[in-house]
Amino acid sequence: MSDTIRTIRVHTDPEYTVTIGPGLLRECGSRLSEVLSPCHIAVVTDSTVAPLYLETVKSSLLEAGNQVSTYVFPAGEGSKNFDTLSQILEFLAEEHLTRADCVAALGGGVTGDMAGLAAALYLRGVKYVQLPTTLLSAVDSSVGGKTAIDLKAGKNLAGAFMQPAAVLCDTDCLSTLPPEVFADGAAEALKTGVLCDETLFSSMEHGLAASRLEEIIARCVSYKAGVVERDEKEQGERKLLNLGHTVGHAIEKCSGFTIPHGHAVAAGLAIMTRAAENLGWMTGESKRAIEAERIESAVETLGLPSSTEFSPEALAQAALSDKKRAGSSITIVVPSKIGRCELKTIPVTELRSVIEAGWR
Ligand code: GLY
Repeated sequence: MSDTIRTIRVHTDPEYTVTIGPGLLRECGSRLSEVLSPCHIAVVTDSTVAPLYLETVKSSLLEAGNQVSTYVFPAGEGSKNFDTLSQILEFLAEEHLTRADCVAALGGGVTGDMAGLAAALYLRGVKYVQLPTTLLSAVDSSVGGKTAIDLKAGKNLAGAFMQPAAVLCDTDCLSTLPPEVFADGAAEALKTGVLCDETLFSSMEHGLAASRLEEIIARCVSYKAGVVERDEKEQGERKLLNLGHTVGHAIEKCSGFTIPHGHAVAAGLAIMTRAAENLGWMTGESKRAIEAERIESAVETLGLPSSTEFSPEALAQAALSDKKRAGSSITIVVPSKIGRCELKTIPVTELRSVIEAGWR
């Protein structure tokens, strides 16, 4: 990886900068002091990330003149619930954080979503910053201000939109990720390629080279920043970012959240791609089988599943409690070709047959 530091400005209200590059956790105190006056920072992290990076972050924040408190919860999607959220909120209150203070989410998607939601709720909103340590949180979940916890009925069903004050993505964290955690993030990056960027897709379809990671993260973040600027609250265009997620969230739910998010999204992407091909929704009669095959093969090359053991019926049932449902219809994201997708609103009664058309 290079030593280059890249910055991407997200023009939401408030605006913020996503900084991508090596060594950023070591410098997080001075870098955050560009957007925060010295204050009390509550670092929320999980039991996997704490032994790796918590001390580094804490020393850097202290060195920059902040007061620091830390909260560590058990790693895993199973923690992303009301119990952990309420413990974080009680912790913030016990530590006497005020509206002048800040929460720092150090970790992957679960940490970012839940610490972000705690920040949105505590005192009706305090600032938070995202310090993503996984590829998935780097390319997707740390940017855009979606915060949430899971409910029994499904994934991310209680949450808020609240933009972070800054995102510092230290790419040094990515070199030590276990292969399945790395693959999880590759799924979201591949999703972005299928959505809007054939060059990005091509650069990943035969494997994700470490030397290109910063560029890949930057491309994903730039695209997402633009979408979020135009449609922060997911009234239209932002729904495209849910490519693979209707089926993906259903797979996660059917598995009792034992299948990781990126793996479930990859299978969801492959199923929706085959469905689009079989239902004639992809463009270019002669090319569509090739495009569909390329997507499926990229999913597999990246070490991700392209099928699921759960039946179309079970997936449709699980998906219908998802947020993407609106009354008797549901909006799904359909690949037209690599680099272009469309939103399709279908009656909920048709979801099962769409899934069936791509199921394997
Ligand atoms: N992960 C999809 C979004 O942020 O909208």
